[in-house]
Amino acid sequence: MITIISGTNRPHSNTFKLASYYQQKLMEKGVAAHILSLADLSADFISSEMYKSRSDTFQPYQDRVMATEKFIFVIPEYNGSFPGILKTFVDACKFPDSFFNKKAALVGLSSGKYGNIRGVDHFTGVCHYVRLNVLPLRIHIPHIFQEFDADGNLYKEDTVRFTDEQIEEFIRF
Ligand SMILES: Cc1cc2nc3c(=O)[nH]c(=O)nc-3n(C[C@H](O)[C@H](O)[C@H](O)COP(=O)(O)O)c2cc1C
Repeated sequence: MITIISGTNRPHSNTFKLASYYQQKLMEKGVAAHILSLADLSADFISSEMYKSRSDTFQPYQDRVMATEKFIFVIPEYNGSFPGILKTFVDACKFPDSFFNKKAALVGLSSGKYGNIRGVDHFTGVCHYVRLNVLPLRIHIPHIFQEFDADGNLYKEDTVRFTDEQIEEFIRF
């Protein structure tokens, strides 16, 4: 199974829009992928309980992570890094079974001009720790508010080309 993790719990995020774009592009290439949006996590997700007995509402997320062989993480830049909720999600997943020897592609985005270069680097370190193999072609999309057309699709020639190259490599990965 392929799972696209929309890496923020902010409602109506550009991250979710971009995750949906990746899902659509994969589908056009004949590859099915699910989106796991951190915006759907229940309110009791961040509680001290998560470290000893994870709540029942988290189990479906854990099950989906366990059933996934390849992940795409779509990661917004929050204060110069990746969102805390994304790290909390990784921390809540069973270690080491959840990500061990699996594969991941990383996509960064930001409203500013760096496209979350640092946050994607930071998250790459986390991926290596949990033994996720990261696709070397990582994508960074700055100025995200100028990147979507009215239908929520990327339309700028070089952004479409680079994301398409990453998707093709991800399929072969
Ligand atoms: C808590 C928070 C921190 C942010 N920090 C940065 C930042 O450091 N650099 C930047 O370019 N954009 C920053 N942004 C703007 C996001 O990059 C922008 O909202 C973009 O659309 C991606 O986030 P989204 O998926 O939540 O929409 C921040 C947004 C939030 C909510």
